[in-house]
Amino acid sequence: MKPEQIKLVKKTWKILMGINPKIIGDAFYSKLFTDHPAIRKLFPSDMNQQYIKLVDMLTSIIMNLDHLESVSEEIIAMSNRHTGYGVKPAHYEMVGSALLWTLQKGLGAEWSDDIENAWIACYQSLADTMIQNN
Ligand code: HEM
Repeated sequence: MKPEQIKLVKKTWKILMGINPKIIGDAFYSKLFTDHPAIRKLFPSDMNQQYIKLVDMLTSIIMNLDHLESVSEEIIAMSNRHTGYGVKPAHYEMVGSALLWTLQKGLGAEWSDDIENAWIACYQSLADTMIQNN
């Protein structure tokens, strides 16, 4: 990721977190499960904790984007847990699309091509790390 992309991801994530992490989590999983109903069964029936866990993990990764190596152990451990949940490499693209959709809806008029490209680069490097280590 280019330094200006890291800045854009940090800035836009902060805006979204100002809305309400629960609303962001709800929007994200609703989109994911509507587009890919078969994925729903991998998750627990009560998703409230999941919203918080996902948002907290993304926050911790995004805050460390300038020096990702400091969270690489955390990402590898998370990737191993995901293999245990039944997550397959093909699922990452589905999750990435739902995430981009959520970000776009959340940012509304502030969304731009630069922001989109920055988030694609961010998610790609995260997903690549997770897939390589699962
Ligand atoms: C870069 C992408 C992803 C991030 C940052 C992420 C983050 C998380 C976090 C923080 C948790 C909480 C539990 C834990 O830490 O192990 C979790 C659980 C889970 N994630 Fe992900 N995840 C990602 C991709 C995916 C993908 C592609 C799938 C595929 C459908 C997926 C499915 C699940 C499932 C099934 C759980 C377990 C719920 C449970 O049984 O409690 N995740 N994820």
